[in-house]
Amino acid sequence: MSIERVGIVGGGQMGGGIAEVCVKAGVDTIIVEINDDLVARSKAGIEKSLGRAVDRGKLDADAREVALSLLTFSTDRESLADRDLIIEAIIENEDLKHDIFRDLDRIVTSPDAILATNTSSIPVTRIAQATSRPESVVGMHFFNPATIMPLVEIIRTVVVSDDSVDRAAAFASDRLGKTVVHAKDRAGFIVNKLLCPYIFESIRMYEEGFATREDIDAAMVNGAGYPMGPLTLSDLIGNDTMLAVAESLMSEYENPRFAAPPLLKRMVEAGLLGRKSGRGFYDYT
Ligand SMILES: NC(=O)c1ccc[n+]([C@@H]2O[C@H](COP(=O)([O-])OP(=O)(O)OC[C@H]3O[C@@H](n4cnc5c(N)ncnc54)[C@H](O)[C@@H]3O)[C@@H](O)[C@H]2O)c1
Repeated sequence: MSIERVGIVGGGQMGGGIAEVCVKAGVDTIIVEINDDLVARSKAGIEKSLGRAVDRGKLDADAREVALSLLTFSTDRESLADRDLIIEAIIENEDLKHDIFRDLDRIVTSPDAILATNTSSIPVTRIAQATSRPESVVGMHFFNPATIMPLVEIIRTVVVSDDSVDRAAAFASDRLGKTVVHAKDRAGFIVNKLLCPYIFESIRMYEEGFATREDIDAAMVNGAGYPMGPLTLSDLIGNDTMLAVAESLMSEYENPRFAAPPLLKRMVEAGLLGRKSGRGFYDYT
């Protein structure tokens, strides 16, 4: 069964970006958000991003109109009933994700539909167990910004069917043009298991006064060839997401290199979430 209708739960940074990638690839896509204000915010973000793509000559104006015509929004999860693939992209909270999957299991009618999560670090097997069809639940981990970053990690649980994995991977590569890698269902998968200890160590360096935030970032850009420094990256990912990922990694591996630095905790408690809140390690206002 080919994937023609996609549903995205959560139209924030990731869900909005994934939806944009889908509609640009000609896929009918619905985003479900919590309320009308969040729908409006998600819609405005995607329209702005598509407008920027037109201004930069990466998309023609007709293609933008076609993309927008394929995108709808809803505050009602029931609108996802006819979808072939759902990608859940709500905040990194395991209990909430379980609630969503329990509900999707009830709502989505096709037994062939794939229920995917974009979680950064929560074991997909546990999310799958919230449904009566764990063989249809896959991890599809896109990267931020989803419109630019080519990678999608496909996460295989111990109970998923080969068919679900193969169809999710083929959709990401053949339809969306992404680069697919496969990983087992271990917290953090490939990228975040490697990336997070590095970001946490940079926060500890900053916290200890080892170097300024600018110098830590400049060092890794100019000395290691990274496109942005680790503190800028943490602000881009979202410091709240980084903290949630640290908690998942710690509970899985019980290794202090995955522990959240106290400064990260204090910043999240103070609402310094990074770019999305206007302030994090840097000020974006
Ligand atoms: N930020 C990153 O760099 C990144 C990268 C890869 C994966 N992820 C993962 O993607 C997911 C989303 O992260 P994000 O950065 O987009 O977060 P975000 O805070 O930007 O967006 C989350 C969105 O989910 C919505 N939401 C929350 N509960 C909902 C519900 N019950 N129904 C519908 N919508 C709901 C919120 O309103 C918000 O718009 C997380 O699991 C995160 O770990 C994040």
